[in-house]
Amino acid sequence: MSKVYDRLEKCFKQVREKTDFQPKVALILGSGLGDFANEIKVEAEIPYGDIDGFPVSTVAGHDGRFIFGYVGSVPVVCMKGRVHYYEGYAMEDVVLPTRLMHMMGAEILFLTNAAGGVGDDMEAGDLMMITDHIACFVPNPLIGPNPEELGTRFPDMSEIYGKDLRELIRSTAAEKGIDLKEGVYCQLTGPSYESPAEIRMVKTFGGDAVGMSTAVEAIAGRHAGMRICGISLISNKAAGLSATPLSHKEVQEAADKASAKFKTLVREIITKM
Ligand code: HPA
Repeated sequence: MSKVYDRLEKCFKQVREKTDFQPKVALILGSGLGDFANEIKVEAEIPYGDIDGFPVSTVAGHDGRFIFGYVGSVPVVCMKGRVHYYEGYAMEDVVLPTRLMHMMGAEILFLTNAAGGVGDDMEAGDLMMITDHIACFVPNPLIGPNPEELGTRFPDMSEIYGKDLRELIRSTAAEKGIDLKEGVYCQLTGPSYESPAEIRMVKTFGGDAVGMSTAVEAIAGRHAGMRICGISLISNKAAGLSATPLSHKEVQEAADKASAKFKTLVREIITKM
């Protein structure tokens, strides 16, 4: 058995000692979006710190725990707070929670984040459905011995964010009258925000939004055979595209402002999954 899989099984065993809840959807809540947890009819909660071997988040605004429960009649495991590469964890640790939720039974991985808007049409407060991503500026989370129990050595990434889920998100937003942008998410390491020149590079390379998470989780999820979808909350115009310097406070304030429409959209989408 691979080292990665062995550790995963140890974490999984501890989860199963606390709950036998079987989720269909794994939802990761991004910066400032943790509030969505209030939409869940909670059945169980596990703080990350209670799972020996689990990487524990250190960022303000990231309250680290799994929440198990129902959105409508759909069983969900929700991560309130995620693990970031910039905290100093190995990529293998960053994607451990995603793999763990797959092991719990989740077939769908629903990724959310706060992101900087790069595309001309991306404004603070917008919601953007992720159609594809750029992950080649961060280490690939599958580097190292391949855990064959999870997936193949060279997984296909030609349709990471599945067409059916994209259509579901699009039609749900239209039905609810919520304006939804679409675009490519580019993951960089952080934790410093980008320079204006880096943002021009991302734009030239086809990125519409930029952030410090998500794409590697999507890769690990696809590797394990999960269906993936994602929504970015554009919390600010990226560096050099607005007159004001960037701050984590601004990110959280924008998330608070857009939180009502974000919650409505995510709740309605999950209900139909
Ligand atoms: N850059 C990177 N990550 C972010 C940003 C940004 O502008 N906004 C929110 N997360």
